[in-house]
Amino acid sequence: MSNKIASEKRDEFRRTMRAHHLWRNAREVLNLPKNPDSQQWLDAAEYMQIDITPYTIDGYFSEDRNDYPPLEGAKPLPVSGNNDLAAGLAELIAKAMPAPQAPEIDESKIISLIHEHSPKSNIVTISHITKEGEKRDDMGTVHKDFQKCIDVLNAGENLQMVGPAGSGKTTLARQLHRALFGNRDEMPEFAYTGALAQEYKLFGFVDANGNYRETPFYRAYTNGGTFFFDEFDGSLPNAVLPFNTALDNGHCDFPHEMGKKHDDFVAIAACNTFGNGADRQYVGRFQQDAAVLERWVPVLIGYDEDLEQSLTDNKEWCQRVQKIRASIEELKIRHICSPRATIRGTKLLKMDWTISDTEDAVIWKGLEPETIRKIRQHAGV
Ligand SMILES: Nc1ncnc2c1ncn2[C@@H]1O[C@H](COP(=O)(O)OP(=O)(O)OP(=O)(O)O)[C@@H](O)[C@H]1O
Ligand SMILES: [Mg+2]
Repeated sequence: MSNKIASEKRDEFRRTMRAHHLWRNAREVLNLPKNPDSQQWLDAAEYMQIDITPYTIDGYFSEDRNDYPPLEGAKPLPVSGNNDLAAGLAELIAKAMPAPQAPEIDESKIISLIHEHSPKSNIVTISHITKEGEKRDDMGTVHKDFQKCIDVLNAGENLQMVGPAGSGKTTLARQLHRALFGNRDEMPEFAYTGALAQEYKLFGFVDANGNYRETPFYRAYTNGGTFFFDEFDGSLPNAVLPFNTALDNGHCDFPHEMGKKHDDFVAIAACNTFGNGADRQYVGRFQQDAAVLERWVPVLIGYDEDLEQSLTDNKEWCQRVQKIRASIEELKIRHICSPRATIRGTKLLKMDWTISDTEDAVIWKGLEPETIRKIRQHAGV
């Protein structure tokens, strides 16, 4: 091919060639340098089977734009040097194009898919080896941190479960007790105490007739079993201070005798705070003595949303509660929306309550309408 490319059109020709779908092949096959000379360009055009005759007049490139038919397979060149024309064209093209259709997103479908494919809550069966052989105990569904708690207790430590209201601490304590002692013919006591204002509630007292009035703590300490100290951080620090010694030592000074700690004594405490005093949410909590806190190994018991899902057959309601909870948290609003809202709401909805009445009763519980509006908007419900 003997045609020469008109020098004034060379740049345009080069850009057009480079935009062609066969350009990469041509470069590789012909081993073209970075800046091919005229002959190499023509060779490339030949390889790409582009007839360049129409681009030339008497062997030279025409200077008239209208003489250039588009190269087959070429991408449109950027319009340069005429911004108004480019803007006008862009506008016309935009008008002529159908509006992009956003695929419809069914949010609840996505949430349910996430739940379907995410790890499920633990359904635990404990096998106890007893004299009679293996005894299996179906614990039902347990909190995701069940194993951590068992580990702390098996290590011989006192377990402090710290978590928001309704995260499942009390239920977990009972399940731990069963897991630890379910192999006995007669299970030792699950001894329970709530927040304490006075020391005697823990250690008992000798009444006017000289009889010792025992406490759940005394029974668990001396006979063995789980002592569950619920609302530990709601107790007055002075009331729990002597508890220290009892946890540490092998004995405890009860009002009527020196009690010996049973080998099977297990202590579990539940708190809403780490014992560092009241916070914005939990105002009735007391700062506990550092020496008391030292005696416990804390495990954080947060909301287990898979466990929560497993407690209801109304997945949609549960997802709604979880969305609202997430928004309350993100907006840093002081309000509790625990799995109890899911459990209670499920029951009320079964009695044909409306969503709105159910929400008022189990979620909003007297929140300011403006705050409710904000949360709703954030949660998109
Ligand atoms: N593993 C579980 N299986 C069945 N129900 C559960 C489970 N865990 C928690 N629940 C239910 O969830 C609700 C809250 O649980 P729980 O009372 O144990 O929480 P909590 O952390 O002790 O709350 P609070 O801090 O208010 O005392 C209860 O109605 C309880 O029955
Ligand atoms: Mg509780």
